[in-house]
Amino acid sequence: MKILIAKEAGFCFGAERASKLILSKKGKEKVFTLGPLVHNGEFIKYLETRNVFVASDLEDIKSDKVAIRSHGVSKELEEELKAKDFKLIDATCPYVKRVQKLAEKLEKEGYKVLIFGETIHSEVQGIKSYAPKAIIIKGIEDVKKIIKGSPDARQSKVGISLGLKKIALISQTTQNLEEFEKLASFLRANYRNPKIFNTICDATEKRQEAARQLAQKVDIMIVIGGKNSSNTTRLKEICEEIVLTHHIENEKELQKNWFLKVKSVGVTAGASTPDFSIKAVLNRIKNYA
Ligand code: F3S
Repeated sequence: MKILIAKEAGFCFGAERASKLILSKKGKEKVFTLGPLVHNGEFIKYLETRNVFVASDLEDIKSDKVAIRSHGVSKELEEELKAKDFKLIDATCPYVKRVQKLAEKLEKEGYKVLIFGETIHSEVQGIKSYAPKAIIIKGIEDVKKIIKGSPDARQSKVGISLGLKKIALISQTTQNLEEFEKLASFLRANYRNPKIFNTICDATEKRQEAARQLAQKVDIMIVIGGKNSSNTTRLKEICEEIVLTHHIENEKELQKNWFLKVKSVGVTAGASTPDFSIKAVLNRIKNYA
């Protein structure tokens, strides 16, 4: 049985960087992350063995060291942590930092910033804190309401006038590229000179494309990652449209009978799945080969 691994699989740059940074800077003390570092139970358990714990809020933190996750936090929260004398390990992904800075700069230059993203997502809340007047949008319907009646809108049919002259569009890093492009085209067609910045990170897109290609070449796909990880679940959905697919969190979930009469197996993993999970799964599959 041939075992093939997707060209892009496992931890994204930001998750890898954050875990290394936290483990190298924490010393012997306990450190708490506000929310899980990644949506992967296996990795969270591993971190606990290294004295890195998840806190759901500030009251939960039982140490003076706090790590900021790869998707960042709001300016206010960062200030609050500093005011409370926590020692911070800032593991915000540089790509997210870049969006925060861009939002801040655009608002200072007088743009009404539109953030394409999920309102409740911590990354979006973080970005918005750098441009407090920004508006979070989920799609074209939201944009229609905003630009209606604006001096620079080419047409004014719906919504309320906000007297907008300069408008700029940015995105949460993990948003869907196709939807972003639709929004950008709509803005270009309906507004004079909108500034459009594609700030979507291609880690997710690359993993999806690699999984799609691999699924076409094999008899069965194994997708590794947290059941609560949306990017892993999306990989599973993509693969199962093409070939028989199993989504597992660890090697113990593998079943020998899945591989009977199978000539080739493809393996992929979400952007929140650590290397050791992938290796453990590969080793067990090799035993079935
Ligand atoms: Fe950074 Fe992209 Fe991962 S923004 S945290 S490398 S998904």
